[in-house]
Formats: sequence, structure tokens, C-alpha cells
Amino acid sequence: DVAARIIDGKAVSQKLRTELADEVAAFKQQTGVIPHLAVVLVGDDPASAVYVRSKSKGCEQAGMAGSQMTLPADTSQAQLLELVARLNADPQVHGILVQLPLPRQIDETVILDAIDPLKDVDGFHASNVGLLAQGRPRFVPCTPLGCQKLLLDAGIPTSGAHAVVIGRSEIVGKPMASLLVQKGAGGDATVTICHSRTKDLAAVVRTADIVVAAIGRPKFVTADMIKPGATVIDVGINRIETGLVGDVDYGPVSEIAGAITPVPGGVGPMTIAMLLANTLLAAKLQTQ
Ligand code: GUN
Repeated sequence: DVAARIIDGKAVSQKLRTELADEVAAFKQQTGVIPHLAVVLVGDDPASAVYVRSKSKGCEQAGMAGSQMTLPADTSQAQLLELVARLNADPQVHGILVQLPLPRQIDETVILDAIDPLKDVDGFHASNVGLLAQGRPRFVPCTPLGCQKLLLDAGIPTSGAHAVVIGRSEIVGKPMASLLVQKGAGGDATVTICHSRTKDLAAVVRTADIVVAAIGRPKFVTADMIKPGATVIDVGINRIETGLVGDVDYGPVSEIAGAITPVPGGVGPMTIAMLLANTLLAAKLQTQ
């Protein structure tokens, strides 16, 4: 067989970030407002620190402001709520992102629901989740939005396609399924969500025209699960002894699939591009 076409998320994200920088410049020109994302990190997890740094750096590259607040790992829920309240009240701050996961003593849902829904660039607040579920999205979570943009950019038809999402997380799996089933471009798919309790998961995935792998298990999706010619989107970032791998067994799967995203250089760079787009949207929603 022929090797799959590689969907280059790095290239697509660079193109989107260049377009976004132009939109930011026009917005600043028209309004005098500089879109500003505040990123909050609690604790000193090294991987989270890297992500947070690249998020605020990405803002600056797009002509927006990115500020970073780091709180100690023993921060209480009340202290974090106080910081969120301060950012909610600050008219200079348009977007608020609290990096997950949070330390044990803090209830993530309490924090996410405390963020002003108009500043919720992650799209995790209950009201933004609800709006997406109703098919009238405001802020859409960055990772699934990036996956949808990759499918659109690659010209992969979703209308009438069977899309199988593996993983039912609030951050990726559930919002991804919402986007794919929604009416219109990048949607209109027949969507199945598989998870750890799914019976004969391999047989279900084998019927997919589009597979989105978001389970968080290294090389979980193997070549025998893939219908020849299917599109495979790999959301996984797993650190194993040999380095970084996705949720897809890339080598063998790329010989069966029609198109596939690599790890790294696939979905990852798109996530940041979508966060930057959401930050500009936040500034627009807060500027009359
Ligand atoms: N941790 C892993 N992914 C994400 C994300 O998309 N947003 C936030 N806030 N934290 C994360």
C-alpha cells in the first residue's frame, strides 16, 4: 500500500498564526485595545511550565499581551479564587487560562466555573460547554477546535462520514464529538464516542472514516483497528522511555491510513493557535 499523507499541523498553525497577527493588528488599529491573555500556573510541574510559557509567548508573537502568574503548589482554593476574581474584574485582561491539572486541594470545577464566561478562552466554563452542546458555540476548547481546523484545511470531508472519537474527556473527547456532529462545515458527521467500557472497541474503530485518538495511552490505536484510507488524528502526547509518542502506533498505522497527524507536529501546535484565536475573540466580545 501507499503511505498515508502527513497532515502537517506545524505548517497549518503557522499559517493561522500569521493570519491572526494581521487580524490582531487591525483590531488594535480600530479600537486601541491590546488583547491580553492571563495564564495562571499553580505549582511547579515542569511540563505545565513549558506549556504555560509557550502560551504567553505565542500571544506576544501575535501582537497580543501575555502575562503569566505562578502560584505555589500549596495555594488554597480560596487563594486561587481570589486571583480569578481579580482577573475577572481587570478590564485590561480579556482572557483567563488556569493551567490544568490543579493540585489536589483545589476543586477544578469550582475554579473553572468562577472564570468570567466571556474571558473563558479554554471553553471549560459550564455556560460555554452548554452553548457548544446547543450548536451555538462561543469559546470552543482549543484542542478539539484545532483538530476540526486540521480536517478542514486538509480537505477531509466530515459530512456523512463516520467519525469515531476515542476518549470521553471534557477537554477533548466530548467537545470533539459535539463539533463533528454539529451542522455545517467541519461537522455533519455520524459520531461514535468510544471509551474504556466500550465493547469490542477495535471493531467499532474499524468502521471509522475519521478516527480521533484522545485516550492518553501510548500507541493504543494499532494498524489492525484502521480501515484502509481512513483519516487518523492523534491528540496524544505521552512521555515514554524512548521519547514522545502519541496515542497512535504511528509507523504501522501510517501504512494503512489515508492521512495522519504526526506527534509532535500535528495537533499540538494547533492547540496554541486556537488559544490565540480565542484570546482575540475574547477581546472582541469585551470591546463595544
Ligand atoms: N492542560 C492540558 N491541556 C490543557 C488545556 O487545554 N487547557 C488548560 N487550561 N490546561 C490544560
